Amino acid sequence: MKGLTREQEKRVEDLLSRMTLEEKIGQMNQESPSIVGGFDVPFAELIEMMTDGRISKEEFQKIMEGAKQDYHEDEIRKGGVGSLMVQDPVKVNELQKIAVEESRLGIPLIFGLDVIHGFRSVYPIAIAEAGSFDTDLFERTARMAAKESRAAGVAWHFAPMLDVARDARWGRVSEGPGEDPYLGSEFARAKVRGLQNDHSSTENYVAACLKHYVGYGACEAGRDYNTVSMAMHLFYNAYLKPFEAAVDEGAMTVMAAFNDLNGVPCTVNEFLLRKTLKESLGFPGFVVSDANAIRECVVHGIAEDDRDAGIKAALAGMDMDMGTEIYSKELKSAVEEGLLPMEVIDEAARRILSVKMWLGLFDNPYVSEEAMARYKVLPKEHRDLALEAAEKSVVLLKNEGNVLPLKEDARISLVGTLAESREEIIGAWAMSWKEEDCVTIRAGMEETFKNLRYFRCGGPEGDINMDEVLSAGDYGDVIVAVLGELVSMSGEASSKADITIPGRQRELLEMLMHTGKPVVLLLMNGRPLALDWEYNYVPVIVEGWQLGIEMGHAVANVLSGRVNPEGRLSSSFPAMTGQCPVYYNHMNTGRPGSKSKFTSRYLDAPLDSLYPFGYGLSYTSYEYSGLAVKEEGDALEIDVTVKNAGGRDGRETVQLYMQDVTASLVRPVKELKAFRKAELKAGESKSIHFTLPKKDMGFYDNEKVYRLEDGLFRIYAGGNSRDCLMEEIRVAF
Ligand code: BGC
Repeated sequence: MKGLTREQEKRVEDLLSRMTLEEKIGQMNQESPSIVGGFDVPFAELIEMMTDGRISKEEFQKIMEGAKQDYHEDEIRKGGVGSLMVQDPVKVNELQKIAVEESRLGIPLIFGLDVIHGFRSVYPIAIAEAGSFDTDLFERTARMAAKESRAAGVAWHFAPMLDVARDARWGRVSEGPGEDPYLGSEFARAKVRGLQNDHSSTENYVAACLKHYVGYGACEAGRDYNTVSMAMHLFYNAYLKPFEAAVDEGAMTVMAAFNDLNGVPCTVNEFLLRKTLKESLGFPGFVVSDANAIRECVVHGIAEDDRDAGIKAALAGMDMDMGTEIYSKELKSAVEEGLLPMEVIDEAARRILSVKMWLGLFDNPYVSEEAMARYKVLPKEHRDLALEAAEKSVVLLKNEGNVLPLKEDARISLVGTLAESREEIIGAWAMSWKEEDCVTIRAGMEETFKNLRYFRCGGPEGDINMDEVLSAGDYGDVIVAVLGELVSMSGEASSKADITIPGRQRELLEMLMHTGKPVVLLLMNGRPLALDWEYNYVPVIVEGWQLGIEMGHAVANVLSGRVNPEGRLSSSFPAMTGQCPVYYNHMNTGRPGSKSKFTSRYLDAPLDSLYPFGYGLSYTSYEYSGLAVKEEGDALEIDVTVKNAGGRDGRETVQLYMQDVTASLVRPVKELKAFRKAELKAGESKSIHFTLPKKDMGFYDNEKVYRLEDGLFRIYAGGNSRDCLMEEIRVAF
C-alpha cells in the first residue's frame, strides 16, 4: 500500500498468511460499546423519549451514566473485532491490551470517532470554518485535533465530511464545507494533510475518513437519508470532486453514505466503491459503512435479509461493517458455501491491516501515561488556534449606519438565552469538549465591554419575557441580540421544512426593534437561514455560526473592532425556505429567471439568494478594477487590482470564477476556480495574479470523458460570487 515501507508490507502479508478466515472477518467488524441495560425501557425507546421530549437531555445522560456497557471483550480476545468507537484513553488501553496480549495474533484495534471540528479544542463547525477560505487554517486545526485525539487513543477520525450541500433544509450542511466543489476540494486536501501528514511521531497523526461517499448532500428535498438521483456529469463535476481531491492527497479511509445513488445504496454500490474509488481513483485504504447501513439495505429493498445485505456489501467493496455484526455472523459461511470469493475477504483484511500498520499501531498500540497527562489543561496554543479559527469564521452580513464596531465603553444590552450557553457554541458532532474550556458569548463580551448588562428575554425555545425586553430597551444604547438555532436543530437527522429563525425569536426581534435602540442581530446557527425579514428590518446582522470553545472571545473581538471580520459564506443564504436548494453555481437554463413571466422564477419569492456564496463584509471596503485576462501557453494569466478603499487595514478574499459559455453540455453560470487572501492596508492597492491552467477549464460528460472544448469563456473576479468584474476570452485547447 502507498505509504508503507517494503518491510511493513511484508509484515502485513505475513500476518495475512497466518490468519484464519474468522480472524480476517474479525478485522472487518467495527463495534461500539453496546448499552446492555440498567434501565427499564428498551434503549431505542429511551432515545425516542429524549428526542420527543418525554425526558430531558440531562435525564437521559444520567440514565446513561448508570447504564451497563458491553465493550465486547470476549470477541476482541477471539480476534473478532477490528475496530471500536471509544475515546477514553484508560478504556482504550484496557481493550487494546486484550487485543494485543490475549488474542492469538495480537493484532491491535483501531479506535475511531467523529472528530468533525476538533477534539478537546472545538473549532467552528465546518460550514463556518470553510468560510474563512484559509487553507492553512483548515490544515492547522486538523493537525491539532489529530494530536489531541491521538493522546486519547483515537487514531481514526470520521472526518472530513465532504458532502457538497446545496439545500439548507438538510441538517448536515453544518458538518461540511458548503455548496462549492472547488472550495470543498481545497478544504478536503488541507484536512487530509493536517490529519495525516505529521509523521514526526506516531502520536501526531491519524487516519482521515472521507464521508459520506457520495451524493448524500443531494438527498431529495433536503430530508436526511432520502433518495438521491443525479445526472452523471453532476456527479463527476460536483459531488465526487472533493472526494477525488482527498484521495489524491492520500486519504486512508472512506465512509460510504446511507443514501442510494441512482437506485443503488452506496453501501452495496460496486460502481462507487470498487470501480470508481478503488480502481479508477486508486484509493489504497479501506471503506467503512455508515452506522447500521448494511442492515438498512434490507429496508431499502435491495437485499432480502442480513446475510444477503452482507454478501452484497462485501462484493461491492465494503471492507468494514459499522455496527451490525452482519459480517461477523454471515460472511464465513458465505465464503464456505462459495457465495463470496476468499479474495474479497483477503483484500478487505489487507487494506485494514495496512492502515493499522501505517498508523504505527503494531509498534505503539497504547496511549502512554505522558500522553494521557499532556492535555489535562488545554495548552495556550490550542486555545489561540481555536480563537483564530473562530474569528476568521465570523461573517458580517449587514452593517447599516456603521453601528459596528461597538465602543468598548458603550452601554450594551446583551439579549438571548443562547448568549449564556456553553453547549450551544459547540455545534453538532463534538464529543470530547469540556465545559471549563468554553467561553460563552456573555463571558467573552463581559471581558471586553465594561458597560454591558445581560437580559435573557428569550431564545429558540420557550416564551418571551416582556419585562426583560423592556429593561434591555431601557438600559442599552445598543442591543446585541444573540438568536438562532439550538445545536440539536442541525446535524444528523435534523432536516427542517422551515429555515426561518425558529420559535418566537422573530417576535422577540420585533419587540427589541420597537424599543427604538439599534439592534445587532448576532446569529448562531448550523445552517443557512432564510433571513428575508431580518434583512429588511434589522440594521446589523452578524453570522456567528457555532464557533467552538472560543466563540465568546471571537465575537467580542469582532464586535469591538479589535478584529476586522473577514469570514465569507461557504453556502448561499435564501430569502425564503421555498427557494431551497439555492446555490450560486447552478446550471444555465434556456429561460434564466428575470422580471418577465415565462422565465425560471417564482411568483412569490425572489430570483436569487439573499446572500450569495462568498459574501461577507468587513469594517473597510474593497474596490476591484482592471481585470485583465490573457492566454499564455497552457494557462490563462489573470490580473485584477484590489484596493482597500476604507479606513482600516483588512484581509480580503479575492475570488476567481469562470463560465464556459458554450459547451456540448449545459454548464454552471459560474464556477469558483481559485481564491487568494490579500492583506491590504487602509488605502492600499494590490494587483492580484491568478494562473488558471487550461487543463482545469474542462468538465466531465455523462460518460466520464473529460472534455476541453474550444470556445468562449467568461472570467470573473470579485469579493463574492455575485458582484464581480467580467472579461470574455476565446480559448483553444
Ligand atoms: C453518521 C456518521 C458517523 C457515524 C458514526 C452516523 O450516524 O452518519 O457521519 O460517522 O454515525 O458515529
